[in-house]
Amino acid sequence: MHFLLLNLTVLCWLVKICNSLDNGLALTPPMGWLTWQRFRCNIDCKIDPENCISEHLIKRQSDCLVSEGYHDVGYEYVTIDDCWSDTERDKNGRLQPNYDRFPNGIKNLSDYVHSKGLKFGIYADFGSKTCAGYPGSEYHMKLDAQTFADWGVDLLKFDGCNSDIKDAPKGYPAMAKYLNMTGRPILYSCEWPFYNWKNGVKSNFTAIRNTCNMWRNHWDIQDSWQSVKGVIQYFVKSDKQFRSFAGPGGWNDPDMLVIGNYGLSYDEERAQMAMWAILASPLIMSLDACNVRPLSKSILQNKNVIAVNQDKLGIQGSLKLVQESVYKLQIWTKPLLPKGSYAIVVLNLHQGGGQLHVNFTLNDLDIYDSKGFNVSETFEGRHIGFYKSNDVIKCRVNPSGVFMMTARPAITNDSNLRFISKYKHTYVGKKGEK
Ligand SMILES: *[C@@H]1O[C@H](CO)[C@@H](O)[C@H](O)[C@H]1NC(C)=O
Ligand SMILES: *[C@@H]1O[C@H](CO)[C@@H](O)[C@H](O)[C@H]1NC(C)=O
Ligand SMILES: *[C@@H]1O[C@H](CO)[C@@H](O)[C@H](O)[C@H]1NC(C)=O
Repeated sequence: MHFLLLNLTVLCWLVKICNSLDNGLALTPPMGWLTWQRFRCNIDCKIDPENCISEHLIKRQSDCLVSEGYHDVGYEYVTIDDCWSDTERDKNGRLQPNYDRFPNGIKNLSDYVHSKGLKFGIYADFGSKTCAGYPGSEYHMKLDAQTFADWGVDLLKFDGCNSDIKDAPKGYPAMAKYLNMTGRPILYSCEWPFYNWKNGVKSNFTAIRNTCNMWRNHWDIQDSWQSVKGVIQYFVKSDKQFRSFAGPGGWNDPDMLVIGNYGLSYDEERAQMAMWAILASPLIMSLDACNVRPLSKSILQNKNVIAVNQDKLGIQGSLKLVQESVYKLQIWTKPLLPKGSYAIVVLNLHQGGGQLHVNFTLNDLDIYDSKGFNVSETFEGRHIGFYKSNDVIKCRVNPSGVFMMTARPAITNDSNLRFISKYKHTYVGKKGEK
């Protein structure tokens, strides 16, 4: 009985999100790896054989995603972004790879990725050319969808360079239809709302959710804290426009995790991970999976934080509190299963030295339960204490950093205990510590 109710809640949290692209995919935010942020359009394999966009790169990264433990914690899709294709279609009008860099063809590469237990993604563009100038899918969408299905593609990232924005409301759904007609479930990642925004067109997120499994809202992310902050602030500003459209089957996409590269400090990396988790964002890394600093790797592979992101309710978190006295302090919350539980992220955007001392109550965040809450720090899974809704919670937050918590209603009876044990992996209090 409980289970039935739970499933209904999961499927129909809001009437709105019952309508989504019906391909059975992305029931939780997609997780994976993508070339773009780190490897860009590096096509010079003579000068840079280890980092150029090639079969070698994708195979090596797939190997490391498995051997370095990323696959075990959920990272699954390995996607090649722009610059994989030849400058011309083949004589039958089909897209073809650059055979110098992909000598065994894409089907062979996709088989390799699958043999590792991973899924394989590819990139195309809705316009006449891709952003880097390779053949676009305009007038070829049906054939391209079939080509991708024949190659065993599991995810398509569909860009919007060199297209007329007026064609988007027909074009993106047309590709969704052609993908569907192949009979192969292919996760569909669109850039539709980003190009709308860029062209000053208001997005119809009902239509976007009906069409895509994830959709990019803002500029490409860059390897810097400034860029990560810019994306967060865009999500703050546009919250009302698109937050409620996220849910099982379709997600707002603030773009890749830049953790494990060059631009972020340890605290900034934890901040991006916590924020992407609470925003129920796709977790798509773009890094050299064979060479990641241990601290960055431990952030990317933190099971407690990933569990917040992958929570089956699939609700995108929201900004609940901006403390006036310290303007750059944001407190975000995200409802979790079991019902009545929340993830909380205290984000300190100050750059001045020293920790910020932050006090708040769960009441301040609209979190109530007469039984009170067990609160844990999320990254380490450390039990912090038992709090009633009006007890003051005190924490210290590093500059450009976060304090992340999970609050779960105190348990009162056996049936609740059994219920919660199913979600043990997110229930992180350490035994004997109080
Ligand atoms: C295609 O769409 C139909 C109807 O929406 C759906 O039932 C089916 O699962 C879809 N198939 C694929 C492969 O996405
Ligand atoms: C890919 O092609 C290579 C070279 O032809 C071959 O040795 C290998 O078995 C193929 N891999 C798969 C997974 O088909
Ligand atoms: C938005 O898209 C939905 C679904 O396609 C459609 O029913 C609705 O009329 C559209 N709304 C606007 C304002 O165009």
